[in-house]
Amino acid sequence: MTHSLNYGRRQFLQYSAFGAAAALFPELLLANPKSARSSPTPSFKPDVEIEFSAREVFVPILNNGSKTKVQKYFAKLLKGPENTVQSIEDNYLGPTLTLAKGQKVRIYFDNNLSEHSIMHWHGMHVPQKSDGHPMYSIEPGERFVYEYEVLNNAGTSFYHSHAHELTGSQVYFGLAGLLKVTDEEEKALGLPTGEYDLPLVIQDKRFNSHSQLQYVHGMHDRMMGFLGDTILVNGKPNAEFSVKSRAYRFRVLNGSSSRIYKLGWDDGTPLTAIGSALSLLEKPETKPYIMLGPSERFDLWLDFSGRPVGSKLVLYSLPFSGAMPPMFERMHRGRGRQGGMGMMGRMDMMTSDLGQGDKFPIATFNVTEKVSDSPKLPVQLARLKRLTEKDVDNADSPLPIAITERHMRPLVNGRPFSLDEVMEIEKVKLGSIKKIKIYHSHAEHQQHEMSSQSNNHDMEGMGHDSMGGRGSGMGMMDEMGGGMMGGMMMAMAHPIHLHGQQFQVLSRKEGHVNREDYETVRHGFIDVGRKDTVLVMPGEEVEIIKPFQDFKGLFLYHCHNLEHEDLGMMRNFYVY
Ligand code: C2O
Ligand code: CU
Ligand code: CU
Repeated sequence: MTHSLNYGRRQFLQYSAFGAAAALFPELLLANPKSARSSPTPSFKPDVEIEFSAREVFVPILNNGSKTKVQKYFAKLLKGPENTVQSIEDNYLGPTLTLAKGQKVRIYFDNNLSEHSIMHWHGMHVPQKSDGHPMYSIEPGERFVYEYEVLNNAGTSFYHSHAHELTGSQVYFGLAGLLKVTDEEEKALGLPTGEYDLPLVIQDKRFNSHSQLQYVHGMHDRMMGFLGDTILVNGKPNAEFSVKSRAYRFRVLNGSSSRIYKLGWDDGTPLTAIGSALSLLEKPETKPYIMLGPSERFDLWLDFSGRPVGSKLVLYSLPFSGAMPPMFERMHRGRGRQGGMGMMGRMDMMTSDLGQGDKFPIATFNVTEKVSDSPKLPVQLARLKRLTEKDVDNADSPLPIAITERHMRPLVNGRPFSLDEVMEIEKVKLGSIKKIKIYHSHAEHQQHEMSSQSNNHDMEGMGHDSMGGRGSGMGMMDEMGGGMMGGMMMAMAHPIHLHGQQFQVLSRKEGHVNREDYETVRHGFIDVGRKDTVLVMPGEEVEIIKPFQDFKGLFLYHCHNLEHEDLGMMRNFYVY
């Protein structure tokens, strides 16, 4: 086992050498001169123990006899209930984990890749050191040990790579898997289990003519986010499922880099959600369609009772607009396989991309067997304590998460990512419950930034133009992104994710949305239940309530458009 300085610490030293940091937290990094954690804590008595590793392998994805090079998680259960780890053969997806509330879990992660990596338990409320912060990225051959108690309620989460600046690429090449949490309250509801509790992990990929995965290349690709032209469900294209004429629970996870899905059934059947990521809902919610941003999860209920054997139902992503910058959208409109009318035929020949907001099928469900033993949809699901403005200590001064897009860089709160630097506005007292306002900050903000910059007045760091300044020669797009109009010109949808404790959406306001575009998504938001990611459309303003309890330390908040995250649209909260 190696005891070399871990990745974060090396990076830290490197960054410090440039004197860039504003407020460092040496106790978090330097008090631990060797790897943050490479051996288990003797006093921690795990109920569940799992050995994970990640390595490069070839798996069949396309049904053409060829194999695709991927990065894959493998896991071996050392201790705990047998159903804890379910491996998926011939697939790039990592094993499905099932954890129960209250379990103490120890996980070993061996990095057998040829690059640094670290695992993150997305949605899980765990101590900083077990959260997989990119500062803990370990080198090939190194081991990291996670220890945490499952505090979460029943829900659907996932785990994935959070490697420093390689998250987008590693998740794309396969480093992700589903994580279910169960609890007693959920068990008492008698929801569908076993084969009737079906995960639908949706991802989009691009393959070259040798069936190998292709990821982003240029800066433009990164700024707009990666969009693939092949939709995979649970790691396979053209997904079809045989179902019985009874009720199912579908755990839908958007595991894509940046694609947003507008889920809808082809025959107009409304969607019924029973869970939103980190909790069951209080009662089922019915929607004509559901917007699902990257890393969002919804548990859907669908009852096939009464549907004849031989019938089928197709889950679609329905058309919508306004998630991409207006200019970009105009250029790409109607280019998708089944989107639009192909008005821009010549464009179609230049690329086969499936645009953001195009219509396409996701999965087909064939009713193949008649049964009569279906559970009924419960009227009441979880009992949640609903947080209100009265519970927060900052109702009049919400913590900001300002979204900015300029100079080809999307940012949060005006500053790029740094492993261990926080601004005043990012310091939160342990035990407090905060209101947080997520909003798009365009022209006014940029002007403010520019003036504060020229005054060299570092207003809580909001004035930094970190990306090389206005003369950085990014060309035409930069010009559009930087001017008065720039903000709105470059506005796009961002799935904003916060590590640590689950939050609740307090309000979603239309702000400066484009009316026409907004009509295509308006009815698709489920803002009840407990979540860790919220999709914020251009012009929208979303307020959330988030408790910061149990653990001190650095907890990330970032855009879960993974290209944006890697570009630095990520910051830390420091809970002290
Ligand atoms: Cu799903 Cu910080 O990540
Ligand atoms: Cu996360
Ligand atoms: Cu983003």
